[in-house]
Amino acid sequence: MSHASPDLQRLTATQGWQQSFRLPDGSVTREMTRLGPGVAGKLAALQSLDLRGKRVLDMGCSEGLYAFYAAAQGAEEVVGVDIDPHRIDKATFVADSIGVDNVRFEVGDVLDRTYRAGLSPFDLVIAWGFLHRVPDPFNALVALGSIGQAMSLEWDALAVPFASRLSLASHPTGGEFEWKNIAGMSRDEVAENLKGKQVDRASFWHLSPGAVEAIVRRLGFASFVRHDRHAGQRRERMTGMLRRTASSALGRTPTDSERGWFRKRVIMLCERRPGTVLPPGGSPYASPTWIAPWHHIGSDGEASDE
Ligand SMILES: C[S@@+](CC[C@H](N)C(=O)[O-])C[C@H]1O[C@@H](n2cnc3c(N)ncnc32)[C@H](O)[C@@H]1O
Repeated sequence: MSHASPDLQRLTATQGWQQSFRLPDGSVTREMTRLGPGVAGKLAALQSLDLRGKRVLDMGCSEGLYAFYAAAQGAEEVVGVDIDPHRIDKATFVADSIGVDNVRFEVGDVLDRTYRAGLSPFDLVIAWGFLHRVPDPFNALVALGSIGQAMSLEWDALAVPFASRLSLASHPTGGEFEWKNIAGMSRDEVAENLKGKQVDRASFWHLSPGAVEAIVRRLGFASFVRHDRHAGQRRERMTGMLRRTASSALGRTPTDSERGWFRKRVIMLCERRPGTVLPPGGSPYASPTWIAPWHHIGSDGEASDE
């Protein structure tokens, strides 16, 4: 990256990159050998939608990879929003570098009513890697639902295998901020980024798919397509309340293996009116067959899957 522009050097020094872009001058924001399954799954999710002529909002857009991808899928206008001004600086820098004019980025907080009131409605709201990163996922869902006709949600879900439709939530860290969860950043970088900011230790709630569906139904969404991936990504022991819930759902004490519970990434598409973005008969979430031309896969480094 010796030939990187002063702007790229400044942005990289301020905060490590989460996403990998190859810029027109040949510089690369972050070297990666492969796309992580999470990134590939999200690109595939976008590919399966009909975004032609649509307005798309990417809430928690980070450096903008998915916002750019939505634009490449034919969206008329894409707005990327993130609470972190460093990420918005980087996304704006990439937009200027690759020369897209129908994608713009701004700093915003989904939980800030005043900010939200200034947003006009969108056909699709994307909120990926998001619900488990906000202190109040319930109000975040209400907020997202008030902005979009359709929503694509991706989050680290609590998924009890035999009771996935139950409305459950857990907080695996007991309120401790999970430093290791910020991909692409060292602990020191995270600390630096959070300086002077209020860190709400209530983040990292894990909602079951049933909980999210129940909330979103009440907001008027009627059509749901769910895609579970990373099954068994993390396995942890079921304890306390969850164990009692399992016993009552099963009508007996759970066996040893049933007492392992899963957190897994889930992507859920919800539409107020079926067909808003999901083409009728369209196959949701096929494997991605192409990678955006600015996305670089380098010879070393690692996959990002935040
Ligand atoms: C785990 S990252 C996910 C980034 C990207 N959407 C993805 O799927 O890879 C979560 C992002 O949400 C942003 N974020 C957290 N709380 C937010 C809030 N209240 N409003 C807007 N963005 C927020 C963070 O700054 C971060 O960029």
